[in-house]
Amino acid sequence: MQTHRIGHDITVLSDPMPVPGVGFLPVNAFILHAAQPVVVDTGLSLPDRDFVATVSSVMDPRDVRWIWLTHPDRDHTGGLFDLLEAAPRARVVTTFLGMGIMSCERPLPIDRVYLLNPGQRLDVGDRTLHAFRPPLFDSPSTVGFYDDHSRACFTSDCFGAPMVSAEIAAGADVGGVEASDLRAAQLLWATVDNPWVHGVEERAYAASARPLRDAAPETILSTHLPPAHGYGATFLDMLAQAPTAAAFVGPDQRALEGMLAGFEPGGGS
Ligand SMILES: [Fe+2]
Ligand SMILES: [Fe+2]
Repeated sequence: MQTHRIGHDITVLSDPMPVPGVGFLPVNAFILHAAQPVVVDTGLSLPDRDFVATVSSVMDPRDVRWIWLTHPDRDHTGGLFDLLEAAPRARVVTTFLGMGIMSCERPLPIDRVYLLNPGQRLDVGDRTLHAFRPPLFDSPSTVGFYDDHSRACFTSDCFGAPMVSAEIAAGADVGGVEASDLRAAQLLWATVDNPWVHGVEERAYAASARPLRDAAPETILSTHLPPAHGYGATFLDMLAQAPTAAAFVGPDQRALEGMLAGFEPGGGS
């Protein structure tokens, strides 16, 4: 994992994942250096990753007070239990559903959980975190938040996009990506991760972006995008296009076998 400090308050822990035929999907976790430090998500659930070691390269994990689990998908929970052990005062911010989903794999200790719903707030000492449901989400437990101190919005899977290289995917700023390429990649991810977006009721969908519009964040921090500064209006416009973007159809078995044949020794040109 690579780490980048974003301004005074935030460190990004990035670990891009190659996706054959698509590119490199950023997988970020974050540390919010609040009076009560917050770790946002805990990285990939791959056996060779050591999330706590990466956190330790930035701060003493014993000082972590909150682990904001935006939702319990495996690209967000990798270091969760190791960090709970390394950070004995930390509590996991999640929802009742998030706790329930975790209980199907490995239950969270109930005394280490703090249940918070969209629309509620969390006081972390020097600032208030405003919980909201991002307009695009792939889990019923997804909760992002807006930090009124740093003016950063943490949007979980929403606004993600595969990048053309691991270097760009792990970058500290998405600003170098050409605008039309970024839009196309975000729309691809929007339809891959949220196939329901093609069936939304227009007004209800537009209303779901209101918390984000009202917050008018300076920085948007998605799990699956390099940090984005000054993109609020651009990303809201992308959201509006998602329902009419081309639907994603994944490779079927025949296509998979074709890809695998290309990987065999002597199979390529
Ligand atoms: Fe997800
Ligand atoms: Fe994700």
